[in-house]
Amino acid sequence: MAKETSVLGNKIKELKKKRNAIILAHNYQLPEVQDAADYRGDSLELSRIAAKTDAEVIVFCGVYFMAETASILSPDKKVIMPDINAGCPMANMLKADDLKKLKAEHPKAVTVGYVNTSAEVKAELDYCCTSTNAVAVVNVLKNSEEIIFVPDKYLADFVEKKTGRKMIIWNGFCPTHIKILPEDVKCEKKFHPFAKVMVHPECLPQVVSMADAVLSTSQMAKFAKESEATEFIVGTEIGLVYRLKKDNPKKEFYPAAERAVCPNMKRTTEEKIISALEEMKEEVKVPEDIRKRAKKSIDRMLEIV
Ligand code: 13P
Ligand code: SF4
Repeated sequence: MAKETSVLGNKIKELKKKRNAIILAHNYQLPEVQDAADYRGDSLELSRIAAKTDAEVIVFCGVYFMAETASILSPDKKVIMPDINAGCPMANMLKADDLKKLKAEHPKAVTVGYVNTSAEVKAELDYCCTSTNAVAVVNVLKNSEEIIFVPDKYLADFVEKKTGRKMIIWNGFCPTHIKILPEDVKCEKKFHPFAKVMVHPECLPQVVSMADAVLSTSQMAKFAKESEATEFIVGTEIGLVYRLKKDNPKKEFYPAAERAVCPNMKRTTEEKIISALEEMKEEVKVPEDIRKRAKKSIDRMLEIV
């Protein structure tokens, strides 16, 4: 098995060189995909890398909105996805028309949208944000009378509590993160009383309230590395645990719930990366008019952080 993995890994390396490509992988990707990647990261880090790279081709191992974000920031690069059907159900919970209607109902409101949205939705936003910087973005809007925050109602709840702002929110959520229940965390804490509890802000508020730290996936990686603690309960999609263990071989990581698996994040395989590089598809390209408008909301976010 290990031999087969390395054969595929070598093939990927060879094709990457031939195509002048880089592989970006989100922290929830399968272990072998994370290992094949040039960069692993959270949504913010991957968009920054996509904006800066000199490579001609970006192979995006994540979900559709992430590849779209890479295409928005790097229009001259060819962005390809090994599995174009890897979508984000939360991003699909809000259409551009829904947001236009909400804006029409609240004409004075400033609109902030989580990066987990389509390019069409981003084109309607004033500010984009990620789980790393949502609180910072909302804190900048001190003089705005009203704020619309979409699509994640649980991230919105976390931001409201942190900033003291009441916002107009959409009824979206991550179907994977809501699978982590307060009783799961309670149970893990019982088994591992000295473990620090790290939780993603997409989790249920009852779970967030039990955390020692509420963090994005890469912030969790940093926290685990820098903390003096040696045991951690990880309240996010289980793919991150592979990275945490690899980066910190002397520390222990316990998933809060093994059932927190995002099926879309697991669609990408090494074989599909090879086909993508051989056939140079499927390409993700955002139409220029939408791209320009969507980019403004991302640029405003990047100016803040
Ligand atoms: P981050 O990696 O930015 O924390 O995002 C988590 C997530 O659910 C991405 O879809
Ligand atoms: Fe979307 Fe949740 Fe999967 Fe992230 S983990 S891609 S938010 S469904």
